[in-house]
Amino acid sequence: MTKARYVAGPGGKIEGELTVPGDKSISHRALMFGGIAEGDTEITGFLAGEDCLATLRALQSLGVRIERPEDELAHGSSGHVLVHGVGPDGLRPSAAALDMGNAGTAIRLFMGLLAPQRFNSTLIGDESLMRRPMERVAGPLRSMGANIQTHDGKPPVEIHASTGMRAIDYALPVASAQVKSAILLAALQSFGRTHVTEPAPSRDHTERMLTSFGVEVLREGATVAIEGGQTLRGTHVRVPGDFSSAAFFIVAGCLAAENGLLLRNVGVNPTRTGLLEMLRLMGADVRVHPHASAKDGEPIADIEVRKSRLRGIKVPESLVPLSIDEFPVFFIAAACAEGETLVRGALELRVKESDRLAAMAQGLTVLGVENQLLADGLWIRGTDGFGGGTIDSHGDHRIAMSFAVASLRARAAIEILDVANVATSFPGFVTTARKAGIQITAS
Ligand code: S3P
Repeated sequence: MTKARYVAGPGGKIEGELTVPGDKSISHRALMFGGIAEGDTEITGFLAGEDCLATLRALQSLGVRIERPEDELAHGSSGHVLVHGVGPDGLRPSAAALDMGNAGTAIRLFMGLLAPQRFNSTLIGDESLMRRPMERVAGPLRSMGANIQTHDGKPPVEIHASTGMRAIDYALPVASAQVKSAILLAALQSFGRTHVTEPAPSRDHTERMLTSFGVEVLREGATVAIEGGQTLRGTHVRVPGDFSSAAFFIVAGCLAAENGLLLRNVGVNPTRTGLLEMLRLMGADVRVHPHASAKDGEPIADIEVRKSRLRGIKVPESLVPLSIDEFPVFFIAAACAEGETLVRGALELRVKESDRLAAMAQGLTVLGVENQLLADGLWIRGTDGFGGGTIDSHGDHRIAMSFAVASLRARAAIEILDVANVATSFPGFVTTARKAGIQITAS
């Protein structure tokens, strides 16, 4: 069977105004927290991408009633969801294994949610997810009393009925919002007060959203604490546009928006926007126009970007967790910058949907961009134009979309293989990219 592919460019001019689909991290959490809350949760701006739909289906298998207009399901558009919460003890065992598809966030957060339950669960996923490390979550959950098994550290994850869990004080070895969130979800259903300390800040959507569901979340410096036994109360979650999806167009704008590009309604939680700092260090003309927003809610802004002369930089390691999903497209910016760019301290990129350091190095080499793959990073020498060629996305949505952006500066077309997974995070990417001015077709 031939897999879906894109052909993009060469060249193109970026302009106009865009919105991007809802935030993936926030959509997963809104479904899960709504599912275990007492009362109903209304979600607006929900991302109907494959990853979040895997979470939605898993919750349905666990007995949560979720309503969505059928036409939205069919078209995969962002939208309106109503979750009828079952309360803290209301989840029921699923008859079959829960299939998380491509979604790392789903499997890891479900581990935390399901470990304290009094029934067994099995979590599986697609080829990529079945290769990803799960002990980083299973380990701390076991210290809380969970009975959980992985296979060589990977899925399937088998969770056995719990006989009760207790709080822990846990220092994360690497900054990870998925691990932090899984422990906090288990902590809610454990005895005592759990403390989680991070080596550097990771995205804090869980902390913000639990607060809006009425949970008391204590934050002091790098530590988050939660008392077990608190009940979530259904609420209204407004999901902003996904900064990680906007990132492709922010970089595209830096490369080719002579008259500017405006991205409306984008989530700009500071634990997500490291890319803006990195691009500014490179000399990019990016402006953020914040909307008025609630104190503990998610900050939202319009982002304006213009074609800029970029200079290569040494990326400060402190920005790595704050831009963890944006490196593939950042590497494209680096390939178009004057001089050298160096990223270190980014070992985590090797265990995402693909080995993103290796996949990007391989793709850049195909285009003729000089680069060197390092154990924990990448060195790139920018150029004022590169060739085309055939890129293997390794089934990774963000690799595929990054090379579509690269086509703006390519001298020949770029063919990108194995792109079906773009639907996990950005349904409608091709339509949005064409509207912005990227010359892309899918087949
Ligand atoms: C996510 C956290 C990040 C990120 C992923 C989404 C989340 O992973 O890469 O795409 O929603 O919590 P880590 O926390 O493992 O770095």
